[in-house]
Amino acid sequence: MSENLDPKKMGSMLPVISRRDFIKGVIVGGAAVSSAGYLFRASTLLAQSSVVGARLITIDVNGQQRRVDVMKQETLAWTLRHKLGLTGTKLGCDRAECGSCTVLIDDVPHYACSVLTHTVRDRKVLTIEGLANRDGTLHPIQQGVVDEQGFQCAFCMPGFIMASVGFLKSNPNPTRAQLANGVSGNLCRCQDYDKILTALMRGADNMRKVSHA
Ligand code: FES
Ligand code: FES
Repeated sequence: MSENLDPKKMGSMLPVISRRDFIKGVIVGGAAVSSAGYLFRASTLLAQSSVVGARLITIDVNGQQRRVDVMKQETLAWTLRHKLGLTGTKLGCDRAECGSCTVLIDDVPHYACSVLTHTVRDRKVLTIEGLANRDGTLHPIQQGVVDEQGFQCAFCMPGFIMASVGFLKSNPNPTRAQLANGVSGNLCRCQDYDKILTALMRGADNMRKVSHA
């Protein structure tokens, strides 16, 4: 016989997701934050983009050879998100102002919204989804973000992390001011810059420990 469930009891049966768990989930896959309006626009444009002129190319994304049909005017951010399902690369402004879409191309940070996909055919693209080890171990920068819980809504987080990873390749031991300058092409709508920098500095420290281990 079925038992009548008290809504309060049902609430207590639901899994409890801590802020730390939430942040970890977002930084591994970069998922979670988007708006209904944005999704509507995306699905409409996706339908339009499949009409004519697409050409099948191969691009190296996160160490994998990905075959994909692209339009000649298609941006890398669009291809990553809507053709390859890599939605960790966020689209904020879509015009090279906010840095939400930052990915590494041959280890250098780029705004994916301002790079045409067909121009990266002979280059290596790294997105937030390719940052953690295959065994699930987070990249030291990602771990720094988890440790410091450095973001609010986290929409900007993948871009900041990718920009930091790229910057630290050329300056692995920056001062706080240098790192702030290094990620100054990234904006946070929540204006959580102080916490973000603390998290990224912790990540830089993690990276140095790993490289000296
Ligand atoms: S979405 Fe690319 S810089 Fe804002
Ligand atoms: S934490 Fe919300 S946009 Fe940066």
